[in-house]
Amino acid sequence: MKLLKAVRGTKDIFGEDAAKYNYIVNTASEVFEAYGYSMIKTPIFEETNLFKRGIGEGTDVVSKEMYTFTDRGERSLTLRPEGTAAVVRSYLEHKIYGKEDFTKYYYMGSMFRYERPQAGRQREFNQLGVEALGESSPVLDAEVIAMGYKLLEKLGITDLEVNINSIGGNDSRTKYRETLIDFLTPLKDELCEDCATRYENNPLRVLDCKNPKCKELITDSPKITDSLDEQEKAHFEGVKKYLDIFGVKYVVNSNLVRGLDYYSSTVYEIVTNKLGAQGTVLGGGRYDGLLTQLGNKEIPAFGFAAGIERIMMLIGDNYPSNTPEVHIAWLGEETAEYAFAVADRLRTAGIKANIEFVNKSMKASMKKADKLGVDYTIIIGSEEMENGRLVLKNFAERTQETLTIDEAIAVLTK
Ligand code: HAM
Repeated sequence: MKLLKAVRGTKDIFGEDAAKYNYIVNTASEVFEAYGYSMIKTPIFEETNLFKRGIGEGTDVVSKEMYTFTDRGERSLTLRPEGTAAVVRSYLEHKIYGKEDFTKYYYMGSMFRYERPQAGRQREFNQLGVEALGESSPVLDAEVIAMGYKLLEKLGITDLEVNINSIGGNDSRTKYRETLIDFLTPLKDELCEDCATRYENNPLRVLDCKNPKCKELITDSPKITDSLDEQEKAHFEGVKKYLDIFGVKYVVNSNLVRGLDYYSSTVYEIVTNKLGAQGTVLGGGRYDGLLTQLGNKEIPAFGFAAGIERIMMLIGDNYPSNTPEVHIAWLGEETAEYAFAVADRLRTAGIKANIEFVNKSMKASMKKADKLGVDYTIIIGSEEMENGRLVLKNFAERTQETLTIDEAIAVLTK
């Protein structure tokens, strides 16, 4: 019989990877909650139209990468390729704007995109992200950028570069598109295949092309920041000023455009050179038009999402391992009940305690403790049981002492 495997582009997360994953999402929740964000959990699938209308039919995500299916009730549904559209759908559906003037959500979970799998790029991947709805101040942009950056720093990730840009509102972008098309038209035969077809409909994507030839051709392209109106320029200056105040170093990258249609004004990415081709750890920006697009509400918003698997690749060993703190060995069937009661007391006290499930020799138990990599072992024989005691062995210090359960808990929780 052929053994079934996980589907191409998907991954099981277990063992030390699961410890890393938990560490990342727990740290992110702490950081987000410190900034006043609360959790939102939206469904894994939504009506297909939400993503078509929200992300844009011309984007790669919608036109090539969605997992769309018809359910038994003939509805067209799609596994969410990202979180923003669904958060906005929920916010509008529950009329949160009528209850609060500023709403801050964070989320974590699986997203699905039919992309070509490679290191750091999967078909099912996990994101952690935030969406702040109801505030147009540039201070919000800077604060959210700083929050994501500080989270990555807290996770021990170094050598990050924050790239920021402003793509303005619809009017200045329309003006810029024309300027850019004029610049690209004489170069069209030299552009890569993708860009040669998209430069007229979606010229901004050419700025983002990874093809070395296209990169070279656009070195002297007109800059979008030159097409911004006074208000948009002032907003961008405000973002930069507050990034300085929050101590975040950044680079203005005028070729930075994002792959989703809902952005306006500030866009940004946090990149690393340690992940090869998939160097973007986190991306986001302002999407003031999305709430109008989906619900006729002029409500400004800003957010980001980061790839958890990419963060996992960057944190190395910098996470608390899920190794137990103590291994409990018991010698002789008659000690089993006492040993399991000890394990229960330790666990109730918050100590990660592992215990042998079957009666083993001292040698086999010590071998197991060594394999687990624990710092302490508890040994329980009939003498310890009769006296309500245990032997606590400290591996690193090569010491051991006979203690009561409470004394052992005190040592282990120190
Ligand atoms: P995005 O740039 O499409 O933005 O994705 C954000 C992050 O998700 C990327 O920087 C990357 O780390 C990770 N990611 C994307 N695709 C994959 C993949 N196939 N495999 C592994 N990781 C991946 C968004 O999704 C927006 N919703 C962000 C946002 C929130 N903008 C405003 N609010």
